[in-house]
Amino acid sequence: MHVLTVLDHPNPASFSAAVAQRFINGAEAAGHTVELADLHSEGFKPQWSKSDIEGTPDAVTQEQTRIARADAICLVFPLYWWGMPAMMKGWVDRVWTWGWAYDQLDDPDVSLQRPRTGVLLVPAGARSDDITDGGYLDAMQTAWIDGTFGYFGFSPRKLELLCGSTGSPERRKALLDKSYQIGLTLPTPS
Ligand SMILES: Cc1cc2nc3c(=O)[nH]c(=O)nc-3n(C[C@H](O)[C@H](O)[C@H](O)COP(=O)(O)O)c2cc1C
Repeated sequence: MHVLTVLDHPNPASFSAAVAQRFINGAEAAGHTVELADLHSEGFKPQWSKSDIEGTPDAVTQEQTRIARADAICLVFPLYWWGMPAMMKGWVDRVWTWGWAYDQLDDPDVSLQRPRTGVLLVPAGARSDDITDGGYLDAMQTAWIDGTFGYFGFSPRKLELLCGSTGSPERRKALLDKSYQIGLTLPTPS
């Protein structure tokens, strides 16, 4: 498969960047071809603007071209206030457009796009039991897996929260190893 990893982090030395790299290493070890969209270093502009209403800006077409050649897509972003940071949110808003990604709102399992394996690989500072007990995991699962990425054709799709990402070196190593395994064992689109 051709695997596109989309990274939202301004710091190349961040944990999120390390997660993306380990995921890519795993995908390569599985024999996939890989491509990285490093949104900050590439200068992607996340703000949805009047030009997005009037037509499809070149920057958006470039992202759609990159998506078109991918069979699997992995989004890597740190969890900010139980959601996506502005860069990833803007990339999703601007790139996955009505008429290109989807054309109806009734059924989140219907997309204009061919099926692509989708993974959200999300470092989160909180502990997994706090995230689950507080209802945050269910909320993200509903918003992203049930309610957003099906419209984009992500199938199968999975939210992989990397909880405790600011913890001990051992914890962080375990999360990086998990990222590698997720890249190594990516399912094919269905
Ligand atoms: C603005 C901001 C908001 C955050 N919100 C959350 C949150 O809602 N839940 C959580 O578990 N961690 C939250 N965190 C912690 C980050 O998810 C965590 O530090 C993550 O590992 C950052 O990745 P990095 O080390 O690659 O920067 C937040 C951090 C920042 C800076």
